[in-house]
Amino acid sequence: MTGPHLQRQIRPVGVFYSRQYASQAVGDRGQSSTTNLRNRRITFIYPDGTPHQVIGNDGEHLLTLAQNNSIDLEGACGGQCACSTCHVMIDESKRGFEQLEAPTESELDMLDLASGLQETSRLGCQICLKEGLDGLIVKLPNTKNATALES
Ligand code: FES
Repeated sequence: MTGPHLQRQIRPVGVFYSRQYASQAVGDRGQSSTTNLRNRRITFIYPDGTPHQVIGNDGEHLLTLAQNNSIDLEGACGGQCACSTCHVMIDESKRGFEQLEAPTESELDMLDLASGLQETSRLGCQICLKEGLDGLIVKLPNTKNATALES
């Protein structure tokens, strides 16, 4: 099978992809080969306006970055684009917004289920840090996203 459907199935997932990526960054001799990893400053804004700046590496997803820094972003499906609990809003007036890739059809489908949807809404598990995203500002929704995987 080829085409867009297959590409969606092999898309990297949030938490697991990040761990795999990190382990690949260590060379055979135990030396870090992180020269290709760049630190990116990302600011999460809590609903009350409190900013929380963290540093992430290229290849890391916003969801993973948030969870690794104790930021309250749920991610019920583990980054598989099957819920909307990692819904965030990107500040389009700041650096980085224009560098984001367009959301996939699956992401848009899940975003339709998110509460407090805005024009710049995205799923945190679908945004991967890369060059150009340094300085990105990510707003956390005011309400908890209720849509999660059915158990
Ligand atoms: S964690 Fe479920 S869609 Fe992002």
